[in-house]
Amino acid sequence: MSILLILALAIAATVSVALAQVPPEKQFRVVNEGEFGDYVTEYGATYRFIESSNLSFFAAPFLLLFYNTTPNAYVLGLRAGRARGDNIMHWVWDANRNNPVGENSTLSLGRNGNLVLAEADGRVKWQTNTANKGVTGFEILAHGNIVLHDKNGKFVWQSFDHPTDTLLNGQSLKVNGVNKLVSRKSDMDGSDGPYSMVLDKKGLTMYVNKNGKPLVYGGWPNHDFRGTATFAVTREFDNLTEPSAYELVLEPAPQTTTSMGGTINLNKINYNGTISYLRFGSDGSLKAYTYYDPATYRKWEESFSFFSTYFVSQCGLPSFCGDYGYCDREMCIACPTPKGFLGWSDKCAAPKTTQFCSGRKGKAVNYYKIVGVEHFTGPYVNDGQGPTSVNACKAQCDRDCKCLGYFYKEKDKKCLIAPYLGTLIKDANTSSVAYIKY
Ligand SMILES: *[C@@H]1O[C@H](CO)[C@@H](O)[C@H](O)[C@H]1NC(C)=O
Ligand SMILES: *[C@@H]1O[C@H](CO)[C@@H](O)[C@H](O)[C@H]1NC(C)=O
Ligand SMILES: *[C@@H]1O[C@H](CO)[C@@H](O)[C@H](O)[C@H]1NC(C)=O
Ligand SMILES: *[C@@H]1O[C@H](CO)[C@@H](O)[C@H](O)[C@H]1NC(C)=O
Ligand SMILES: *[C@@H]1O[C@H](CO)[C@@H](O)[C@H](O)[C@H]1NC(C)=O
Repeated sequence: MSILLILALAIAATVSVALAQVPPEKQFRVVNEGEFGDYVTEYGATYRFIESSNLSFFAAPFLLLFYNTTPNAYVLGLRAGRARGDNIMHWVWDANRNNPVGENSTLSLGRNGNLVLAEADGRVKWQTNTANKGVTGFEILAHGNIVLHDKNGKFVWQSFDHPTDTLLNGQSLKVNGVNKLVSRKSDMDGSDGPYSMVLDKKGLTMYVNKNGKPLVYGGWPNHDFRGTATFAVTREFDNLTEPSAYELVLEPAPQTTTSMGGTINLNKINYNGTISYLRFGSDGSLKAYTYYDPATYRKWEESFSFFSTYFVSQCGLPSFCGDYGYCDREMCIACPTPKGFLGWSDKCAAPKTTQFCSGRKGKAVNYYKIVGVEHFTGPYVNDGQGPTSVNACKAQCDRDCKCLGYFYKEKDKKCLIAPYLGTLIKDANTSSVAYIKY
């Protein structure tokens, strides 16, 4: 009898799950067509409203839209900020940045609960894969999380689990989930760029990958986040200061007895920072921006910058001097060449790399020397391998066609082979020398 009862209950449960569907008044199908909006948005993008009599795609100050920087290539994106005065609105989440859709594409949520972005001819370009999983509705929450929930309000899918280059207040990277932010290529091109910030068991690490070999250039490579790094804005409860200060932080998962890594304080601001986000930029920078609606001027403000005078030197940003340059105290002061230092401009470039290994076409490898300089990976890879001799270091670079130069520290006899040069950081110690191939 009990077996029959269990069987009956199981069937009832299955049927009730199958019956949980999106009711007609919560379904929608919108077409990407018509006029563009009037206001200025980030990337100089144009945008179209998503309108359905059944549903709102707005939760102040967030709004879901179609936007594009290139004709006929639209991204479904969440915009933050309000259209007022000189205020530029920012894009804080993208559904399909690597797979844009064309004119007359559609966004639809049907009875089965799958949210689908499709071309005009029906080809699916992006979806939440939530068909028949009990979804009963769609909602945009106050902090910019887009959710598909079931009849108990539980999230079957949420945009917070699918970050691209941005973390909103309360959004996390997870070792067992989406564990990285990836930069966009440029303002114009929203597809995956060469920079990534990856969370793993060791830490949260910034990489640049320009030629197949990821190089560490920043982040918190040795900080235990216990599997989850959350960007959060916390109000400081200090009753003596009114209004309170707000702290922008990166929070690890709750502490356990065996694993204890602390919260990282990014910056403190003296106004309500609830609407903030952390952006991994197309130049590899990491910045936070905060939207403060009561401000009469510049509602968006940069509220944190990893590479800045108050955090890690800007000279540590590989792209700070563009392709190539010599950086000292937050300034690109020279363009190193075989003939010595020339004035820096954004045209400064490392020598062209076509025949850069010995033996190839019988060419000898030449180097020019820069005294007192460090590679951007220096602080993170403990200055390279060694101890070794400067001749062994040179020999290694000679043979390696991908080596554009080597960095040698006489002090501890460490050798660093560089497959990418970028910004060279001035090192007070003249025993640090770079040898650049040409
Ligand atoms: C909107 O809701 C009505 C019921 O209120 C439903 O009949 C209609 O199909 C829905 N519209 C869309 C586009 O799904
Ligand atoms: C989009 O659809 C409208 C209405 O059906 C049509 O007039 C228009 O030509 C279409 N646009 C494109 C680019 O196909
Ligand atoms: C601030 O005020 C609250 C409520 O009055 C009180 O519970 C709290 O202990 C106070 N905090 C400090 C730091 O004084
Ligand atoms: C801070 O801003 C948020 C979002 O605008 C708002 O919901 C909240 O009430 C504000 N907090 C205070 C203390 O004013
Ligand atoms: C530079 O390195 C030398 C050799 O190890 C060391 O003695 C000296 O203190 C260093 N100077 C600075 C400014 O760090």
